[in-house]
Amino acid sequence: EETRRESLMVATAYAAKFFQDSLWETADGQNIGLSYYKERAFTPETIRKFELGYSPDQWEAFSAKAIKEGYKEEFLTEAGLSVKRDNGSLYDRYRGRVMFPIHSITGRVIAFGGRTLKSDKSVPKYVNSPESDIYHKSNVLYGLYFAKKAIRDEDNCYLVEGYADVISVHQAGIENVVASSGTSLTVEQIRLIGRLTKNITILYDGDAAGIKASLRGLDLILEEGLNVKVVLFPDGNDPDSYVRQLGSSAFKKYIDENKKDFILFKTNALLKDAANDPIKRAGVIREVVESIAKIPDSIKASVFIKECSMLMQIDERALLTELNKMRMAKA
Ligand code: CTP
Ligand code: MN
Ligand code: MN
Ligand code: MN
Ligand code: MN
Repeated sequence: EETRRESLMVATAYAAKFFQDSLWETADGQNIGLSYYKERAFTPETIRKFELGYSPDQWEAFSAKAIKEGYKEEFLTEAGLSVKRDNGSLYDRYRGRVMFPIHSITGRVIAFGGRTLKSDKSVPKYVNSPESDIYHKSNVLYGLYFAKKAIRDEDNCYLVEGYADVISVHQAGIENVVASSGTSLTVEQIRLIGRLTKNITILYDGDAAGIKASLRGLDLILEEGLNVKVVLFPDGNDPDSYVRQLGSSAFKKYIDENKKDFILFKTNALLKDAANDPIKRAGVIREVVESIAKIPDSIKASVFIKECSMLMQIDERALLTELNKMRMAKA
């Protein structure tokens, strides 16, 4: 079993090298892949550090070479690098895509995300590796290997949605950044961060989906006993596009000035629709107390109840009663 996993990792490492060589050393790699990265303002150092690559726009370039060099079909397909046709031959899963290797916490490549270069909506923007014995996506955070030291040093972890967000934010000098890419945030991912810091700052996309994911994420983070803040970006921006627009120092300033604790973020997000309708306001308050009820530490919870009471101008005792009811219902 361990040798099987090792064989999958060796095949995946070979693919990572193949995609990097294809990026740097072929005409298409340079003309298509490198120019794409350049347009995204990724520097050559960044491209090397994250081991980014390019998959040739051909059906069998990778699979044929790998088989010729002795890699077993079984491992190529299980690792999700090659796909078997009905007639038994292999074709490449990733074709004509820019390749983002996903590293384990010890820095070995265990999977890929491949981004299309087409704006055509009929092709999936990202193709990701399937689950395998070396890749359980709910247990993996993109960028963690490159971020772990900074997460400890800064005692905070920035959480973004995508591959490009991690890379651009890291390149801007904020290295304590990871993404839950390809899946919505899981408890396992939060626990991985929790070994390095108790503080998470969510930087999701500034759109309705990003706000919804932030609300869901903050509840999960609170339930795990970690502290959470949220930064909302202007609609249509994600950390990658926004850091490119502002430059790194203005971006850092934006984050510092716009990070909100979960109560402020949640009330602002929900109050938008509630306006001055008292019944809707009561609903918002109840939902905020629901989040507070997820905090395992009751002293911390009571501090947030106080904040909520001041913010919403509601009697603290009423909130505490509500909190206790919710806690009882959960127990
Ligand atoms: N994602 C995915 N499959 C898709 C779309 C998204 O796996 N079809 C994952 C990717 O990890 C992606 C993340 O969700 O990075 C966030 O999605 P999105 O915001 O749509 O993409 P961006 O990361 O912003 O990609 P880009 O900037 O390259 O357009
Ligand atoms: Mn397994
Ligand atoms: Mn998005
Ligand atoms: Mn983006
Ligand atoms: Mn995005």
